[in-house]
Parts: sequence; C-alpha cells; structure tokens
Amino acid sequence: MIEIKVNNETHRVDAPDDMPILWVLRDLLNKKGTKFGCGMGLCGACTIHVNGQAVRSCITPIAVAKGAHITTIEGLDPKGQHPIQIAWQENNVPQCGYCQSGQIMSAVNLLKDKTKPSEQDIDNAMSGNICRCGTYPRIKKAIQQAAE
Ligand code: FES
Repeated sequence: MIEIKVNNETHRVDAPDDMPILWVLRDLLNKKGTKFGCGMGLCGACTIHVNGQAVRSCITPIAVAKGAHITTIEGLDPKGQHPIQIAWQENNVPQCGYCQSGQIMSAVNLLKDKTKPSEQDIDNAMSGNICRCGTYPRIKKAIQQAAE
C-alpha cells in the first residue's frame, strides 16, 4: 500500500512503486480528468502538479508521490472556476478538448512562476503540450487574459 495525497485528500492505493501516477489516478482513483496521450512524456496530455511543479504523470512513478501533494485538474478549483479555467471558457479555447486539462495544468504552472509572461515565456512554457486541433492562438490569448 502507498499513501498519497491527491487534491488534499489522502488515499491508500495498492500499487507497485513503478506504476505511473497516471494509472493510479485514472484506474485506481477514478479521476479521469488527466488524460493519456502518448504514454512517453512527449505530448503533455497527462500533466499534473506534484508539490506545485508540473510533471508528466505517464512517466512519473507513484513512488515519487509518497508524502507529496498531487494536484489534478479536478483539484484546481471545486467548481472549475480557477482564473485560468475562466479565461479558457471566455476564450472558447477547447476544440475536441482532449489535451486541455494538460494545457491548463501547464498554464497554471507558468503563471505561478511568471505573473506577467511574455509571448516568448508562453511559447517556451507551453511548447511541450501538443494540441492536434491547433488551439494554440486561443491558449495564448487565454493565458494573457488570465495574467491581466
Ligand atoms: Fe504523458 Fe503524453 S501522455 S506526455
């Protein structure tokens, strides 16, 4: 058994140390907001926060989460009204929506580190989050709006 804290709730999960956090979240804790895309740390769909830092949950073993705080898209705000989520809604960012929880988690991470990011800062921070629908211009606009 491994004890982990997800969105301020403590869970005891029966998982091997090397199970990716993404599997624990989706399959053991039924938290489906975090998405499986590539499974190789390349697309960003599975982005979560561990102790406030964005990580790729598909390649991060659950062992690193022992004693740490995991935040998923479900934990940003109980009503889905985190300032970034509001900016996402107001700019109609998603198209198919699949990558968006990972996009939002990366954007939150960016604005925590830089409250007034430049375009280059946004490009640098978000370049690892792939969107097949090409919503990049709206993502950038929403981040800029949230930073105002
Ligand atoms: Fe984790 Fe693509 S699913 S980076």
